[in-house]
Amino acid sequence: MYNLGDICILLLIGLSLQNLENGGHKKLPCRPSKFLFYLHNTVYNPVVDNQDYFNSIYGLPPNISFPNPFSFGVMNTFEDPLTAGPSSSSTSLGKAQGFYVLNSFTEFTLFHLFTANITEGDFKGTIDIFGQLREVDPIRYLTVVGGTGAFLGARGLASSTLVNIDHTPPAKWTLSFELDLYY
Ligand SMILES: *[C@@H]1O[C@H](CO)[C@@H](O)[C@H](O)[C@H]1NC(C)=O
Ligand SMILES: *[C@@H]1O[C@H](CO)[C@@H](O)[C@H](O)[C@H]1NC(C)=O
Repeated sequence: MYNLGDICILLLIGLSLQNLENGGHKKLPCRPSKFLFYLHNTVYNPVVDNQDYFNSIYGLPPNISFPNPFSFGVMNTFEDPLTAGPSSSSTSLGKAQGFYVLNSFTEFTLFHLFTANITEGDFKGTIDIFGQLREVDPIRYLTVVGGTGAFLGARGLASSTLVNIDHTPPAKWTLSFELDLYY
């Protein structure tokens, strides 16, 4: 039996031979058209001072003299573990590093930019994810704007849902990211 990695190698050998024949046009096989991961986050909260177990930190709020109920201008920087399943103890895939900025005066909206670094599993490489989302939306649509390794040249859609959230300080949540990828 071949596993996916072996099949990719066989395909690569096949394509290399083909490339020799067709003038060396580069084709990169084995890039996934679907990819799913779960992101787990625990926010640092100075009240409980969970400095031994956090994945993200809020930056300073803007220095303004009026109320800011939706934390406009506040940034959260994160380095979150990624897994193949919804449980934080399921198979590890790598990590996501990036940030979001709260960017509405009238509701919770988050402008995201992060890189998912997939270091385990059949497909290894990075995926760059970008976009604006509203917290009230049950499915949040972000875009895949690039990638490296097995995801080189990726473009596409990242559909994200909130799998669970625990507001008990320090707040914890899990998001799913279902990617539809084009190359
Ligand atoms: C906020 O802005 C005021 C007015 O410019 C300044 O006096 C104060 O030091 C600032 N506070 C912080 C925490 O930067
Ligand atoms: C992804 O993670 C691996 C393993 O830690 C590391 O070697 C690699 O440099 C990382 N890639 C990026 C873009 O951070």
